[in-house]
Amino acid sequence: MLGFGKKKTQLPVDPIEAQEARQVKEVSEDFQKGVTALRDFIAPSSLVFSSNFFQLGTRYARAYYVYGYPRQVYTGWLSSIINLDEVIDLSMVIQPVRTEVILNNLRKKVSQLEAGIQIDTEKGRVRDPAKQAAILDAEEMRDKLQVGEEKFFRFGFYFTIYANSADELEVVSHRVESILGQQLVYSKPASAQQEQAFNSIVPQFSDQLQIYRNMNTGAISTSFPFTSADLTQDNGILYGINMHNAGLVIFDRFSLENSNSVVFAKSGAGKSFTIKLEALRSMMFGTEVFIIDPENEYQKMCEAVGGAYLRLSLNSSTRINPFDLPQVVDSEEADNALRSNLITLHGLMRLMMGGAQVEMQGGGGAVMPALNPAEEADLDSALIETYAKAGITNDPLTHGATPPTITDLYDTLLHMGGSGPQLAQRLRKYTSGTFAGIFSQQSNVNVNNQMVVFNIRDLEDELRPVAMYIVLNFIWNKTKADKKRRLLVVDEAWQLMRFEDSANFLFSLAKRARKYNLGLTTISQDVEDFLASRMGRAIVANASMQFLLKQSPTAVDVLADVFKLTSEEKKRLSQFPIGQGLFFAGQNHVHIQVIASPSEQELITSNPSAQQAAAEQDIYHQTLTAASNRSTPPQQQKEDLAAADPADGIFNMPPDPKVGPGPTRPTSQDVAHRKSADLTSGVMASTHSDTLLPSSGEIAVSHREDKKP
Ligand SMILES: Nc1ncnc2c1ncn2[C@@H]1O[C@H](COP(=O)(O)OP(=O)(O)OP(=O)(O)O)[C@@H](O)[C@H]1O
Ligand SMILES: [Mg+2]
Repeated sequence: MLGFGKKKTQLPVDPIEAQEARQVKEVSEDFQKGVTALRDFIAPSSLVFSSNFFQLGTRYARAYYVYGYPRQVYTGWLSSIINLDEVIDLSMVIQPVRTEVILNNLRKKVSQLEAGIQIDTEKGRVRDPAKQAAILDAEEMRDKLQVGEEKFFRFGFYFTIYANSADELEVVSHRVESILGQQLVYSKPASAQQEQAFNSIVPQFSDQLQIYRNMNTGAISTSFPFTSADLTQDNGILYGINMHNAGLVIFDRFSLENSNSVVFAKSGAGKSFTIKLEALRSMMFGTEVFIIDPENEYQKMCEAVGGAYLRLSLNSSTRINPFDLPQVVDSEEADNALRSNLITLHGLMRLMMGGAQVEMQGGGGAVMPALNPAEEADLDSALIETYAKAGITNDPLTHGATPPTITDLYDTLLHMGGSGPQLAQRLRKYTSGTFAGIFSQQSNVNVNNQMVVFNIRDLEDELRPVAMYIVLNFIWNKTKADKKRRLLVVDEAWQLMRFEDSANFLFSLAKRARKYNLGLTTISQDVEDFLASRMGRAIVANASMQFLLKQSPTAVDVLADVFKLTSEEKKRLSQFPIGQGLFFAGQNHVHIQVIASPSEQELITSNPSAQQAAAEQDIYHQTLTAASNRSTPPQQQKEDLAAADPADGIFNMPPDPKVGPGPTRPTSQDVAHRKSADLTSGVMASTHSDTLLPSSGEIAVSHREDKKP
C-alpha cells in the first residue's frame, strides 16, 4: 500500500522527543475519555446479547426477521403491527435488482414449464393447471419488466420488540408473531444473531442479516406502513375517535382551504348529533355559531349555552326584514352592499312569486322561470326605487338609513306601469295576506350572541324555503360586517335544494364563505335529491370537510361516484352503526366514531326517551338543589352549566380510548366494530400506497413506533 495523498504522521526520530509525543498523546486521550459526548446520553447502560434475546440496560428486547410472505400481499399488511400498542423498531431493506437478471431467470423458468407441459402432452397425461397458471404469471411479469412498468427488488424486513421483563417479552413476542402469522407473514427470532440483527435494525444503514425475499414494485408498495390517516392536529376540536388506531381525531376546519362541510346520512344516523357536538366544542374557541333548525332539535343545547333561540312562525313576534343592508366597514364591500342585496332580493322575489312553479324536478326537468324578462326588469327598477324612496343609494353613507320593507316594495309596484301591478298582486300574500308580518316589517332580532338558532319548524311548508333564504341572507349580512370565525349550520338542507333560486343562493354562500371566515355546514338526509341537482354537487365540491354516516343502500352508489369511494368504503357505508362514519378532511379519509361526554350527550340527544329521562333527572335535581342549596340563584346555575359542559368532550377524554370510548361503555357490538376497523385499513391505504417506492440505491427505512410514554 502506497498511501497516496495521506501523509503518515511520522514519530520524531529522537527517542526523547518520541517519548514526549507519546505522553502528550496519552494525556489527551485520557482527557477525551473524561468528556461527555452525545453518545453517553443516548447509549443504554449496558448491552447483553443472549442467543435469542438481548438486554438493553434494564429493558429486554428480541430482534426478528421475516422469512416468509404470502403469495399475494395486500395493502396495509404492516399497519396492524404499526398500530399495535407496543414499542417496536422496524427496519426495511430494499435493494433494487437488475431487470436483465430477473428477465433471464424468468425466461429459463418459462421454458422449463413449457417443456414440462409438452412432455405431459406427449405422454398423454392430463393437463396440469398449476403449470399453466405459473406460465401466465411469469409471462405477465416478463411483459411488465420489459416495458419498465415493474421493477424487482430484494426486500428484507427486520424488527425488534421490547418489554420490561423476560416474561413480558414472551407475551409480546407471541402477540406480534401471531398478528403477522394471521396475514401469512412468517417471522423468526434471529437466534444466535441478535447482535447482527440489532445492528441491522438501528438506523445506521448496515444490513448484517441479509435475509431477503424478491419482490416486485407492486408487492413492495404494500409494505408502506402508515395506512391509517392520522388526523390529529395541535389545535382544533375533537371530532371523535379514529377507528383504525384508536387515536383522536382533532381537527381545525378553519385550517383547510375552505371551512365548509357537508354531512350526509340517512335519518337517525347521527347527523345532527355530530354537528351539535362540533358546534358546542367550537364555541369554546370563540367561534360564533348560527343554526337553521327545521326540526326544533337545537333548543336544549342553545339554551344551555345561553344562546338566542328565535322561533320563526306566522304567530311569533320575530321579524326579519330582507331589505336590511350589511353594516360593513370595508369600503369596497360597502360600495357593493346595495348591489349585492338587490341581487339577493331578486332571487327572493322569484322564490316568493314563483314558488312551486319553479320546483326543479330532480334538477333535470324543464324549469319554468318564475318571472319573464319584462317582469324581471320592472322588478329591478321597483327595487331600486323602493330603496331610493327610503333615502338609500349606492353611496355607502346612505346605508345607515332605515331600510324599506316588502310593504314599501308592494306600494312601489302597485303604482308603477308595466307589469308592476301584477307583480304587486303576486306579492300581496306577504304584505297583507296569509304570510303577512314575519318578513314584511323591520327586523327586531338581535343576533349579538355566540349562538343563534333560527327555528323554522312551525312555518308552513310553502314558506320554509323563503324563510331559509331570508335567514341565510340575514346571517350573511352579519357575517360580512365583521370577519369573525363563524359556523353556519343548515340542517335538512335538501329543502333549499328543491328550488333553483334557493339552491343557487346556498351555493353562492358556499363559494364565498371562505373570504369571510365562515364555515358553512350543510346537512342532508336526502342524498340522492341533493346530489341530483347541479348546485348540490357544486356545494359538495366546495366543502373541504365531509362526513358520511350510515347510508341507505340506494344512496351508496351515488355517494361512491361523487366522493370517489373505494369498494371497501362503499360496503361499509351502509353498515355503520349510529355515530360512526367516514370523515374526509382534505385528502384524508378516516373511519371515525363520534363520541360525546355524558353531559354533552344529555344536551344534544334527540332520542325522545333519553330526553324524557334527562328531563325527569332535571326535575329531580332541581328539587334536590332547591331544597339543599337555596342560596345559589338559578340564573347562576344555568351559566355554570353552560360554561362547564362543552369542555367535557375535550378535557374529560378517557385516557385510553381503546378501553372504552368515554361515556359509551364497550359493548359486544363495539368490539365487533373495532375488529372490523382493522380490515378497513386496506381501504384507506389506497391513496398512499405507492408513494414510498424507492427509485434506486439501497434504502433502509427504520421506524420506531414508541407509543408508550
Ligand atoms: N355519536 C353518537 N353517540 C351516541 N348517540 C348518538 C350518536 N349519534 C347519534 N346518536 C343518537 O342517535 C339518535 C339520532 O341522531 P340524530 O338526531 O343526530 O340523527 P339525524 O341523522 O340528525 O336524523 P334526522 O335526519 O332524522 O334528523 C339520537 O337519539 C342521538 O342521540
Ligand atoms: Mg337531524
